[in-house]
Amino acid sequence: MAPNNKPSSGRSATPGRLSRRRFLTGSTAAVTGAALPLATRPIMAEHRTHHSESFRMVFMTDIHWQDQHGAPEALAKALASLQRLDPTPELIVNGGDLVHNSKGMTVDSGERSADRFLASWRANTDLPTYHAMGNHDPLGWANPEVSPNEPLFGWDLWREKLGRDRLYYSFDHGGWHFVVLHDIALTERGHYIGEFDDQQMRWLKRDLAHAGDRPTMLFGHMPPVSAIEFLDGGAAVEDGDWTLSVTRMTRNPDALLQALEGSRAQAFWSGHIHRRDRIDALGLSMICAGAISGAWWGGPNGATQEGYAVIDCHADGSFDYYYHDYGWQPPS
Ligand SMILES: [Fe+2]
Repeated sequence: MAPNNKPSSGRSATPGRLSRRRFLTGSTAAVTGAALPLATRPIMAEHRTHHSESFRMVFMTDIHWQDQHGAPEALAKALASLQRLDPTPELIVNGGDLVHNSKGMTVDSGERSADRFLASWRANTDLPTYHAMGNHDPLGWANPEVSPNEPLFGWDLWREKLGRDRLYYSFDHGGWHFVVLHDIALTERGHYIGEFDDQQMRWLKRDLAHAGDRPTMLFGHMPPVSAIEFLDGGAAVEDGDWTLSVTRMTRNPDALLQALEGSRAQAFWSGHIHRRDRIDALGLSMICAGAISGAWWGGPNGATQEGYAVIDCHADGSFDYYYHDYGWQPPS
């Protein structure tokens, strides 16, 4: 099935193709939903305020970088494709699962792979990039040969390589606020769940209070909730009840929604499922945005091609989005 490249609106539609790096949005009427509780904010409001500047960004996820299957060439192709977008993006958020199977590697091989992945990234784009962490990323977590006392064990690899003590953080750009969350919790050795932990949610509330009335995007690896898993995925009816593992969607999306109360959070972008879906509920768009690696470098994952999300952020707090197939064909 062909990918759907039509823009998908956040809160309103953008007319026509946009032609400048910073572009004007034609707009007519009011509604931004500033700083209202999520439950009371209008959902999918159809109008804009004022003429305003917009900018473009991309959300890439689930690269699963590795030597095999042409992955390095595919990543280079995906990053090169950004320069052919019109307008070109101003920043990249990466939704995790950077290197395939860091969790199963030794410290030496994991560090080497991380270095090569990041060198490849820097060689192919100079756009500011903000990385989230996925379940494949904690070094040695699923390798019983690796001692937890080793330097760079687990998330420490990426703290070191990305220069971040904390793996959740925020930044501002173009009048918007962006929050990269860390929604993979490591449980018993080798295992994980999707979770919004208490400490992070307390930080998030404070962070959003400081963000004031800036429209906000959030990013993580695990979907807060998943539609596709119920439609054609891992969810199943057992003994009369739907069941879905908390390794497929977070165990506590309510904690996220509570932390977002009173903010102008517009969307939460995730990966992990390597497929696309979108849930609009309680004023928040929760969008699972495919995968750069498709089906883990084995071709498209069902109807989801290898691709990434192109997101246009408008000054009134609305956004538009389409999924861009960057044209990768697995080597035969
Ligand atoms: Fe993945």
